[in-house]
Amino acid sequence: MKVAVLGAAGGIGQALALLLKTQLPAGAKLSLYDIAPVTPGVAVDLSHIPTDVEVKGFSGEDPSAALEGADVVLISAGVARKPGMDRSDLFNINAGIVRNLIEKVAAVCPKALVGIITNPVNTTVAIAAEVLKAAGVYDKNRLFGVTTLDVIRSETFIAEAKGLSPADVNINVIGGHSGVTILPLLSQVEGVSFTDEEVASLTHRIQNAGTEVVEAKAGGGSATLSMGQAACRFGLSLVRGLQGEANVIECAYVDGGSEHAEFFAQPVVLGKNGVEKVLPYGDVSEFESNARDAMLDTLKGDIKIGVEFVK
Ligand code: 2OP
Repeated sequence: MKVAVLGAAGGIGQALALLLKTQLPAGAKLSLYDIAPVTPGVAVDLSHIPTDVEVKGFSGEDPSAALEGADVVLISAGVARKPGMDRSDLFNINAGIVRNLIEKVAAVCPKALVGIITNPVNTTVAIAAEVLKAAGVYDKNRLFGVTTLDVIRSETFIAEAKGLSPADVNINVIGGHSGVTILPLLSQVEGVSFTDEEVASLTHRIQNAGTEVVEAKAGGGSATLSMGQAACRFGLSLVRGLQGEANVIECAYVDGGSEHAEFFAQPVVLGKNGVEKVLPYGDVSEFESNARDAMLDTLKGDIKIGVEFVK
């Protein structure tokens, strides 16, 4: 099992690499790539941690060596938000980065499961799909936008609000990964009920949690550690699915035949070929169905920008 992290010297990438080094199954290989020259050193640093996971680091313009034989590729490369910026403000730089990296994925490891973390995820996943289509290797079951941070934030904030253990909270978060396109299905959380005010304020906090971090870091970047944890959870779920474990389910932003948009985050069963099954996201409240319908123009617009960028 080989997992490649592209953007491995950045804030998310280093946190993700550390978590993968300590949590990947024994015998797995971890391959780190970043344009930054420090990357082989990051790998040496991690290699001193006593786990049965071999780490190698690669830097420079070409990620090909890091991608050889990869089963899973997690992409966090790119620039992060500063206060006052929206995720879409990152488009001009990150779109080209994702396009170039995915061209290499298409050439070197076209069968790998690819998780995109680089923002704006609503758009960069569409870019990745178009690049893979142009290369003739697109498989919709193998491409994912990582929205797990919205899920873990929801778990945390709900647990805080209701005095629960976060481990006991399960929630679907549907839509996309930015602002109003992030929709936590609070009405489905078992064992708790929320007032209308709680639904409004929790939904708002979850949708704006990324901005909460950007503002708290005051110019020093956006979420890295919580995103590292989220991406690790998602990456490990991809690995568990590839290894044949049953009932591995995560919400992810996929090309899953949604009636709402070409890409839509919802629960999926992960297996040996990536998405084994797209699950229905279940019954929603009136608040949630209104919020879902209201997000669709934004989400479809984000996707269109990605498609047009590549064309
Ligand atoms: C966030 O939600 C970085 O997009 C990431 O904080």
